[in-house]
Amino acid sequence: MSAKFNIGERSGYAGVPLVFRLFLFFGFIVIALVFVYYTQNVVGQLKSNSLRMVNLSIKLLQVELSQETSGEATGVIFDEIIAPTEIPIIITDRNNEPLFFRNIQGLDTNAVTDENREKLMERIELMNEKYGRFPIKHIDQATGTETIINYFYYGDPQLIRQLQAMPFIEIGIVAAFLLLGYIGYRNIKRSEQHFIWVGMAKETAHQLGTPISSLMGWLEILNIWYDEEKKAGVDEEELSQIEDVSQQMTRDIERLQKIANRFSQIGSRPALKSADLNKVIEDVVEYFRERLPYQGKGITISFMPGQIESVRINSELIGWVIENLVKNSLEACDPMAGRIMIATSMSQDKKTVIAEFGDNGKGIPAGGHNKIFHPGFTSKKRGWGLGLSLAKRIIEEYHDGHIGVKSSVPNRETIIQFSLPVEKNGIKEDQKA
Ligand SMILES: Nc1ncnc2c1ncn2[C@@H]1O[C@H](COP(=O)(O)OP(=O)(O)OP(=O)(O)O)[C@@H](O)[C@H]1O
Ligand SMILES: [Mg+2]
Repeated sequence: MSAKFNIGERSGYAGVPLVFRLFLFFGFIVIALVFVYYTQNVVGQLKSNSLRMVNLSIKLLQVELSQETSGEATGVIFDEIIAPTEIPIIITDRNNEPLFFRNIQGLDTNAVTDENREKLMERIELMNEKYGRFPIKHIDQATGTETIINYFYYGDPQLIRQLQAMPFIEIGIVAAFLLLGYIGYRNIKRSEQHFIWVGMAKETAHQLGTPISSLMGWLEILNIWYDEEKKAGVDEEELSQIEDVSQQMTRDIERLQKIANRFSQIGSRPALKSADLNKVIEDVVEYFRERLPYQGKGITISFMPGQIESVRINSELIGWVIENLVKNSLEACDPMAGRIMIATSMSQDKKTVIAEFGDNGKGIPAGGHNKIFHPGFTSKKRGWGLGLSLAKRIIEEYHDGHIGVKSSVPNRETIIQFSLPVEKNGIKEDQKA
């Protein structure tokens, strides 16, 4: 038996198609890059405008402060030139003590007071870190000597700060929309799948109903003939042959009825009853053991029932899960040396019953542990990849349990296990049904 694990996905896999996911992902990256690039560009232009404005203001102040005249023009430079630009500026004396400022957020006066001095000092530090300080010099007309009399600090206008935050806000909004779209699309796909799945199951159950009832009728006729022939004293050997055929047919019809019943339970909430999981497993194991001579001559199936509490289950559906697990193990094992080991036990906290299905087959690679439960996931030529997704649905949706791959070492031991919550005490028999 080849150990190659060549998983394929049939069309109809319930997830969102890879192409669509890639499209969303790369679309998002492109949109984000365009946003960032565009705003960075605008911010860059605004910043160079600010710098030009600052340089102009410094030059004007320098000229003004170089004059021996009063500082009348300084007020005009501040209020007519700097204030409308919304560029925050602070001018200090040569000892870094704030003297004038404009456009500093959170300060409503234009005068340096004891209260706002600390805040101004903080802003000075930030402005210095970002753009440095610009000295305003007094140039002695006569001697030409320069003395620093003030420092000029500036920061980003509020508009720039808001613009810098823009791409992140926009990216956030786009991401939220994409996420909503993705979830919506996935939910639509899921409910569509659910609808098809349930519809097919119910239709199959319905269609099987008619031939099954008809077969039961034929069987009844066969049994009447048998009784008549017996009374008429027909040959013993012939009688036992008819009896044999009748018994085989009864079993097959019962099996067909079971299948139809299982299908009809999918979709609506199945009725749960208190049951012994060991008994349900035993029945399935018995069913497979009888068929082993045809399916795999060298395969053995062993079952070690543990001391477990009763569980509230739909035995028909859980029986279906067990069948799927055993069938998968049979298909994974070498027909001449396969070993399938099933065991039940209580979880450590005694809250769940655990059933383990082990085999020494070809195993499941680590990357496939979750994927094998997706509908349509199969590594088999003739598989549909439905067995485990059905098992997951039955265990997790209908029984509040859990199913997963416990461990897998190729050709040694692969264990798939499910757990079911134990029946809670205090539930009356009539509530259980
Ligand atoms: N015991 C196991 N050992 C190795 N691989 C397994 C085992 N059980 C499941 N798998 C892998 O998981 C895949 C999905 O299993 P699933 O029962 O859902 O579908 P399938 O057996 O391929 O087809 P279907 O059950 O519909 O006939 C299988 O194709 C197989 O590759
Ligand atoms: Mg299967």
